Amino acid sequence: MEVRKIGVVGAGQMGSGIAQVAAQAGYEVVLVDVAEGPLAKGMERIRSSLARLLEKGRLSQEEHDQTLGRIQRSLLLEDLKEADLVVEAILEDEGAKRELFTRLGALTRPEAILASNTSSIPITALARASGRPERFIGMHFFNPVPVMRLVEVIRGQLTSDETRDAVVEVARRMGKEPVEVQDYPGFVSNRLLMPMINEAVQALMEGVATKEAIDQVMRLGMNHPMGPLELADFIGLDTCLAIMEVLHRGLGEDKYRPSPLLRRMVQAGLLGRKTGRGFYVYD
Ligand code: CAA
Repeated sequence: MEVRKIGVVGAGQMGSGIAQVAAQAGYEVVLVDVAEGPLAKGMERIRSSLARLLEKGRLSQEEHDQTLGRIQRSLLLEDLKEADLVVEAILEDEGAKRELFTRLGALTRPEAILASNTSSIPITALARASGRPERFIGMHFFNPVPVMRLVEVIRGQLTSDETRDAVVEVARRMGKEPVEVQDYPGFVSNRLLMPMINEAVQALMEGVATKEAIDQVMRLGMNHPMGPLELADFIGLDTCLAIMEVLHRGLGEDKYRPSPLLRRMVQAGLLGRKTGRGFYVYD
């Protein structure tokens, strides 16, 4: 099945990035959010990212204008009726995602593929809520979406080969490298990344080193572009905690227990860049 039109639900950091790379790849895009505020903010993020690419000569003026012209913005899920693929990128809440997929399953064309950008919620459970588990799959993008090359492709228990093939092709056309993994808590990316971040928080709590020193060790010693605490602020400490809880619940081992400091920071509303303060302070 050929994908021509892609719907993206959720105009946050991830959803706006996905809409941007889809439009850059030549797809017609409908970007939907529930409220005007986040939708306008998402479009602004896309505009400034494309402006950056134009400035650097990575996009011509024509490609820039055409890309923007391919993105239709909407406050109505009904505008996704004609989409061949819908990628969900709303908040990381299983109940909210299930409810959305039940609605999408009822209103999109029966042959359309539904995908979730979830970073840790079981794909198989979301697939069931959609009522079309064969045409349901995880497409997990990484932040910042226009820069990061990976798309983790997660098959649910009943995902068909055709669905997998279709999204692999879409990811490649977006200039990404799809990597297929099974539906297991945290998939591969967060099963490896989050325990490292959690351990860094624990080391900070135990006074092993300062936050700057912990980050420097990983940046300079392991060549990571960001230290783990800096990266936690970038991802959002609430997201990190939610993923650690999924790992802890799903895999059951004590090594996945969220650090008490991580929990306390989330309770205090120190969520990282998005709230202006996490392990570091942002202007
Ligand atoms: N749109 C377009 N281009 C962008 C961009 C954006 N939003 N953000 C950065 N860039 C480009 C810059 O223009 C720059 O391009 P050039 O090389 O042509 O100059 C390049 O990316 C590097 O950016 P900067 O020079 O501004 O900054 P940097 O070198 O410090 O890199 C970074 C920034 C790419 C974010 C880098 O620090 C990095 O890779 N950090 C780690 C990010 C990471 O691990 N992400 C995954 C998080 S986990 C996740 O998302 C999923 C999950 O489930 C939790």
